[in-house]
Amino acid sequence: MPDTVFAKTLLSWYDKHRRDLPWRKTNDPYKIWLSEVMLQQTRVDTVINYYHTWLRKYPTLFDVATAEPEALLKSWEGLGYYSRCRNFQKAALIVQNEFQGTIPSSRKAFRSLPGVGDYTAAAVLSIAFNKPIPAIDGNVRRIMARILALRQPQKQGQAQLINRLQNEISHDRPGHFNQALMDLGNAVCRSNQAHCLECPLTDDCLAFQRGNPESYPAKKRPAKKPHYQIVAGLIWRGDKFLIRKRPEKGLLGGLWEFPGGKIKDGERPETAVTREIREECGLVVKAENPVGTIEHAYSHFSISLTLFHCRLADNREVCSDQPSRWIKPSEVSRYPFPKANHKLFRLLENRLWK
Ligand code: ADE
Repeated sequence: MPDTVFAKTLLSWYDKHRRDLPWRKTNDPYKIWLSEVMLQQTRVDTVINYYHTWLRKYPTLFDVATAEPEALLKSWEGLGYYSRCRNFQKAALIVQNEFQGTIPSSRKAFRSLPGVGDYTAAAVLSIAFNKPIPAIDGNVRRIMARILALRQPQKQGQAQLINRLQNEISHDRPGHFNQALMDLGNAVCRSNQAHCLECPLTDDCLAFQRGNPESYPAKKRPAKKPHYQIVAGLIWRGDKFLIRKRPEKGLLGGLWEFPGGKIKDGERPETAVTREIREECGLVVKAENPVGTIEHAYSHFSISLTLFHCRLADNREVCSDQPSRWIKPSEVSRYPFPKANHKLFRLLENRLWK
């Protein structure tokens, strides 16, 4: 099927302006899939180092399938959205067990793997297997909303946008077509500033022709994020302190942290930390002075996290539904911790331990 004018114009722009990214130098579906998983919700600049480091440790999908889950999380530490890592390993195991170790190239089979949504399936299958499937992320949705002058691409607009991309996608170079739109969204057709003089698609763009590209699509007012006050305890036993593993399911699942939790309405922070440690670990502690407080923003909320020195009241053992460990400061690097915990480690390094 010959390329449309739209596809030809976009691809010749891509050939001149494409970003030189490591996952664009391979045809290996495993590496392309890995890059797409890492790039979900994460900036390209951040992903590049993680991508190289990961591939040095896990050069094949088989290495991912057979790795210790905690070692994988350690390699993911700091990238956030840790369920991506857990799902990637689940998917790698399914590829070994049900697809004889070969990543499936059919949309139905690949889309059925854990963590693979419409966007990831389209991106991987177009880039690695040359399948003409449009990969529609936020950038692409914005470009197409401008081209079609859609203010709020809901059901009907969304269908129009998909339909147009299906008609325009190059059958020779579908992976390049999709990545060209990603690069265009990143460098030219930006959310707050559409650099239309640099854009190859202005002949097709209704928003450009109407002279107000940035007003498409209409911006949603950002939801106000809640803020939580969290407390945690630094509990020493000899030269070791206590850490606890978070449940596998849910936010930051499978990572380790200082035991603690949310302050309830009207509760004193010292009371909250004592209560949380009793509930989570079955230990009786007295909260003493604070080590310090850090601030951290997650995608949907933010926290102030205060770490308290805590003294054990007696020598009873930890009793917890989750694994816990007494570790030395020098052992911190063996465990995956959330970024907020690393901020506390930095406070401790500056002020206290060693
Ligand atoms: N974001 C998601 N996938 C990408 C890719 N293949 N290249 C650049 N940015 C991306």
